[in-house]
Amino acid sequence: MKARQCPLAETLIISGAHSVGGNTETLVQHVQQNAGPSAEILVLREKRIQHCNGCRTCERTGSCVIDDDMQGIYPLLEHTPSVVLVTPLYFLSVSSVMKQFVDRCQVLYARRYIHKTLIDDAARRGIVIAQGATENQGDFAGISLIARSFFYSIGIRSIRPLFLTDVDKRGDINLIASLDEQLRIILQR
Ligand SMILES: Cc1cc2nc3c(=O)[nH]c(=O)nc-3n(C[C@H](O)[C@H](O)[C@H](O)COP(=O)(O)O)c2cc1C
Repeated sequence: MKARQCPLAETLIISGAHSVGGNTETLVQHVQQNAGPSAEILVLREKRIQHCNGCRTCERTGSCVIDDDMQGIYPLLEHTPSVVLVTPLYFLSVSSVMKQFVDRCQVLYARRYIHKTLIDDAARRGIVIAQGATENQGDFAGISLIARSFFYSIGIRSIRPLFLTDVDKRGDINLIASLDEQLRIILQR
């Protein structure tokens, strides 16, 4: 899956997939098909994204000192109308590549809460979609909290979740008969 980046895309789909051809990757394809023509995919594992080193420089300057692919991603996170997180459930959390990405958004938190250059935009919306082996919706609580914190940091207050249970073996995601219908509902503006 090739990721393209366009600041004018209506929807940015952020893939936390680790496994090539796994359930998350298939889910991302379904999300793109149901999100309309102006949807771009950002595949995190294909990007150069270092972990946040906790230096707190962003709190003083409003900028991140780490010169990697996040620098090109920040403007997309600040301006794209719809931002969609797609992740597997790994140890009751988002995938590690997605957690690393979320931590790097501390600079956007700093811009919003300290420097006040990033303000909430009621017209923007966030969607979090996760899948995992569990039968229990409650096992997605960690992902729900991380998504809330992430979306608040990038100025999005309106958040819709979709958590898909009983997805484990490769291809299980395609056994959910109502998948596209559920995606259409959650993705509609
Ligand atoms: C490292 C790892 C951790 C996992 N942790 C959980 C978990 O905490 N709860 C759960 O229900 N399933 C867990 N699973 C199962 C995955 O959520 C499930 O197999 C999912 O469909 C994998 O998506 P993928 O094919 O995109 O990797 C885990 C799988 C892996 C590889």
